[in-house]
Amino acid sequence: MLKSSKVFLKKTKNIKPDVAVILGSGLTNFFEKKNIIKLISYRELPNFPEPTVKGHLGKVVLGKIKSHNILCLHGRSHIYEGINTNSLKTPIRFLKDIGCKLIIITNAAGSIHKSIKPGSIMSIKDHINWSGFNPLIGPNEDDYGPRFSDMSDPYDKFYRKQLKKIAKKINQKIYEGTYCMFSGPSFETPAEIKAMRTLGVSAVGMSTVPEVIIANHCSLPVVALSVITNQAAGISKNKLSHKETLEQAALVEKKILKLIKNFIKELIFYDTTRNN
Ligand code: HPA
Repeated sequence: MLKSSKVFLKKTKNIKPDVAVILGSGLTNFFEKKNIIKLISYRELPNFPEPTVKGHLGKVVLGKIKSHNILCLHGRSHIYEGINTNSLKTPIRFLKDIGCKLIIITNAAGSIHKSIKPGSIMSIKDHINWSGFNPLIGPNEDDYGPRFSDMSDPYDKFYRKQLKKIAKKINQKIYEGTYCMFSGPSFETPAEIKAMRTLGVSAVGMSTVPEVIIANHCSLPVVALSVITNQAAGISKNKLSHKETLEQAALVEKKILKLIKNFIKELIFYDTTRNN
């Protein structure tokens, strides 16, 4: 068990979350104040990465949604901040250690299709790792998973199906599509976006894929939602900027949080953990 996991369980007096939510750029207000159990800064958790990007706060918040204990992670590392595999692995393995059964990942992404407009939400059904990087490179930690790990159901079908059902129930349109990760920090070129369209990609971004690889390695199921904050390069007439990402994500915040909370309220878990 990681040091950070032990520190967390000591601080929460062994209250363990069922589900973790990783909040991407521009998403901040998850819990109502009265539902917060404990707030811990990343600084208090050994080896947790200090976020360097605006819109990423660097704290975990434990709270309640109905009967479930939920842990929200405000802030993540990106490979464009400098590749440090531990800063990517630690938060996910920490979630495994403390007993999470599902991670809900959110991110901001650019849409490759004119029909998927800014303000839309896309459930990621698969990804292409275009970043040239895999966070599992290096010695394998056998306690968490095998050297060669399976990636044939990266965004868990069982939970994705439930998510789709809830979106329908609360009358929210969600898209399903393939996400492609670029390393960033520069945005893509129009030619890169054109190539991605040919490859069947629906949205592009600079995060999520490393976390999904690490979670799949330790058999921790994932669902992921992209907030479409802009049309990708060459489609948009505007220049792309992080400011636009943050502004657009804030506009969709209520909608995506409503979806996630309703999903959690009616969540049915697997009986047993998946075996890779
Ligand atoms: N490209 C990459 N990452 C992004 C984008 C984009 O267009 N929008 C938000 N994050």
